[in-house]
Amino acid sequence: MTTQKIVAFTEPSFYGVSFARAAYEQGHKVVSIVSSKENPVKYGYEGIYHDLLVADIRNEESIYNTIRNSEYNGKLDALVPATDYASHLTAKVAERLGLRGIPYEAALRARNKDLAREAYKEHNVPGARFKKVKTFEEAKEAAKNIGYPVVLKPTNCASSQGVYFINNSFELEEAFTNLIDFKVTYMNFKVREEYLIEEYIDGEEFSVEIFLKDKEPLFAVVTEKVTSPLPYFVEVLHTIPASTNKDKEKEIIDTAVSALKAIGIFDGPSHVEVKLSASGPRIIEVNGRPGGDLISSDLLVQAFGIDIFEATVNYYLDTPINLKPRWNRAAAIGYLTAERNGIVAEVTGLEDLHHSEAIVRSHITVQPGNQVTVARNSDDRLGYIITSGNTSQEAKETALQLLKSIKITYK
Ligand SMILES: Nc1ncnc2c1ncn2[C@@H]1O[C@H](COP(=O)(O)OP(=O)(O)OP(=O)(O)O)[C@@H](O)[C@H]1O
Ligand SMILES: [Mg+2]
Repeated sequence: MTTQKIVAFTEPSFYGVSFARAAYEQGHKVVSIVSSKENPVKYGYEGIYHDLLVADIRNEESIYNTIRNSEYNGKLDALVPATDYASHLTAKVAERLGLRGIPYEAALRARNKDLAREAYKEHNVPGARFKKVKTFEEAKEAAKNIGYPVVLKPTNCASSQGVYFINNSFELEEAFTNLIDFKVTYMNFKVREEYLIEEYIDGEEFSVEIFLKDKEPLFAVVTEKVTSPLPYFVEVLHTIPASTNKDKEKEIIDTAVSALKAIGIFDGPSHVEVKLSASGPRIIEVNGRPGGDLISSDLLVQAFGIDIFEATVNYYLDTPINLKPRWNRAAAIGYLTAERNGIVAEVTGLEDLHHSEAIVRSHITVQPGNQVTVARNSDDRLGYIITSGNTSQEAKETALQLLKSIKITYK
């Protein structure tokens, strides 16, 4: 029997909802710190928390004071970030409350891509040449020095929002003009007015789902990632474990571990994005949290029977962690996207989804009458299919086949 602990989460949302579920199922008291009382409904975790505290989750003092002024003052056993955007603020508050977690400085580097790039450089972790810029003139100069093609991106966003593939100074001017108008991102967090120009790294992309304990992986697997055709980078397929480049697996994991150490993350879950260039693996970014896109909540469970969220709650509570695979299978998630911009006339082929044995779950959101666009970021995707199989190839092929059988016609 578990002893009931009091575990607080900052704004469970998207992947972070699985934290609340894991703690709830373990029998702990779940306290959710939210920016609005509506959020359990909005993010879909009604019934799996015990109490809500309302705070401005964009403000460290507000989170800290809300806890101090509540009945939980001095009683929390853990404070866990359950949205990436507030992870650094949560880390700071946890430090102030004497609770364990990722060091604030490390969380800050994981949240800000410029600080992360500086850390990789300092620690000789293979990354991309980069320059932080504020104005178009600076961006143009940086791109010229680095050499086209380059990538222009915000320093503190996610979901590929505002990430541009750029071939020349004309494209750069247009993208930069758009980017400086992008002021506020999810949950009203401010987009920093400093941007990155990065060298474009060519090669296949992977992510590493990893859980460190004292700087060593307790668990690590390489996920194969397919993104939409350039100039966009929208994730359209993830396969666990990767079906290609098996011989490079160790090198990819070692690179991810060195990036985490450079950032200062030595414990807990991470999702590290890597491109396999001609000169070997190079870091795209480190996220100091479990992978989103249902990678951690579904694919890891299907492929290995492990629960990284439960492990994370145990890590924060300093109780034993079990990440031993219960089986070795494979899983994939494929996303449906529009081939062109337009208004949807009809969506067909959905019946096939119910007949496939390999399918674990599907959620197709597009409907006749919807205005759709070629996906520019994750939010433009039109639904997903999760499959499992005995091999990666099998899970991946089935997901692709089923996606192909869904046809969208346009008005
Ligand atoms: N320097 C680069 N070279 C090549 N591709 C890149 C580079 N930077 C970003 N990308 C591509 O753009 C995608 C999104 O970039 P990045 O991960 O930095 O932004 P993000 O908003 O955090 O994305 P997400 O939350 O979707 O992972 C990457 O997964 C990769 O495919
Ligand atoms: Mg990314």
